[in-house]
Amino acid sequence: MFKLCIIALVFLIASSRIDGSWPVKYDDPSCSGNISVTDVDRVQFAMNLEFTEAEFFLKASTGKGLDAFNATLAKGGPAPVGAEKANLDPITNRIIEEFGYQEIGHLRAIADMTGGIPRPLLNLTRENFAMFMDRAVGRKSNPRFDPYANSLNYLLASYYIPYVGLTGYVGTIPYLVSFNIKRLVAGLLGVESGQDGVIRTLLYERQDETVKEYGGVTVAELTNEISNLRNELGMCGIKDEGLCVPPWLGAENRTSSNILAADPYSLSYDRTPQEILRVMYGTGDEHRPGGFWPCGANGRIARMFLDKGYYGHCGACSADN
Ligand SMILES: *[C@@H]1O[C@H](CO)[C@@H](O)[C@H](O)[C@H]1NC(C)=O
Ligand SMILES: *[C@@H]1O[C@H](CO)[C@@H](O)[C@H](O)[C@H]1NC(C)=O
Ligand SMILES: *[C@@H]1O[C@H](CO)[C@@H](O)[C@H](O)[C@H]1NC(C)=O
Ligand SMILES: *[C@@H]1O[C@H](CO)[C@@H](O)[C@H](O)[C@H]1NC(C)=O
Repeated sequence: MFKLCIIALVFLIASSRIDGSWPVKYDDPSCSGNISVTDVDRVQFAMNLEFTEAEFFLKASTGKGLDAFNATLAKGGPAPVGAEKANLDPITNRIIEEFGYQEIGHLRAIADMTGGIPRPLLNLTRENFAMFMDRAVGRKSNPRFDPYANSLNYLLASYYIPYVGLTGYVGTIPYLVSFNIKRLVAGLLGVESGQDGVIRTLLYERQDETVKEYGGVTVAELTNEISNLRNELGMCGIKDEGLCVPPWLGAENRTSSNILAADPYSLSYDRTPQEILRVMYGTGDEHRPGGFWPCGANGRIARMFLDKGYYGHCGACSADN
């Protein structure tokens, strides 16, 4: 066990991309989260992520998407694209199925309290995951990375999603005014961070395995690369860390083990809606949709930023603008 995190550490130092050499807008208002919107706008913004997780988890574990369980929650949003039943081992399947049902609960909770928003178009295709993964690693996978091919790939793909929701909730809570919405978001944050912790634990146990699509790259290295990509896209500094880090990023500077990502006080990182849009769009620009939300996210916050002349690459987008 003493070998854990050593190999990844060497790799990380060699690649040294986590040193902040990408564009960072620390003092930019987009990194502060102080936008003039209501509590309802803020919690509805989170539905974009909850819809994404619901579809990804439910389809992968049960073969059926959100609409098969509750046809009204999507509020007429377009059918999601690309999610599939994943080839999961029985334990992973049970865990992901539970997470999927939890996402339905989260969507219901937000919808019951605020009325909800239409589901945005979701791109959960293999190609989209492979595109993000290739960008993270800096080269094309061979064979092409398929998130639905096996449990390991699926967990690596899952590393992309609940963590972004977690940082969003942490960023949102300080700005909330209403007691009921604070209580709701605290409850959402608790389960979201639990999901992230489980996914990271399952990956941590397999940290030294290599991912064949990226010949020789280990699971730990890949998580660092994904986190680095999200830091780059978010543009507000380090908000994301892989499973193994240099000790100056580890808890109390005493460990390279990083099963949970956190700041120097071991508090969760926060992200603003703009950072979340930059990351999920994959464009590094909250005005330009793409990635998981090719036609843009929904709700007042996302639409406020969306460049009005920009309808993504799909004609269907103009329908709900
Ligand atoms: C947010 O911005 C408003 C208006 O500019 C200001 O009054 C308020 O103090 C700011 N809040 C924080 C936490 O910075
Ligand atoms: C779907 O969710 C809504 C909101 O919570 C709820 O009112 C409705 O009963 C649910 N439908 C089904 C079929 O569970
Ligand atoms: C989903 O993403 C892939 C990879 O970028 C792209 O080829 C495909 O056109 C996208 N699909 C939609 C509906 O946006
Ligand atoms: C850990 O190291 C960082 C950077 O070198 C420093 O800012 C921080 O205060 C240190 N934390 C502790 C608990 O010593």
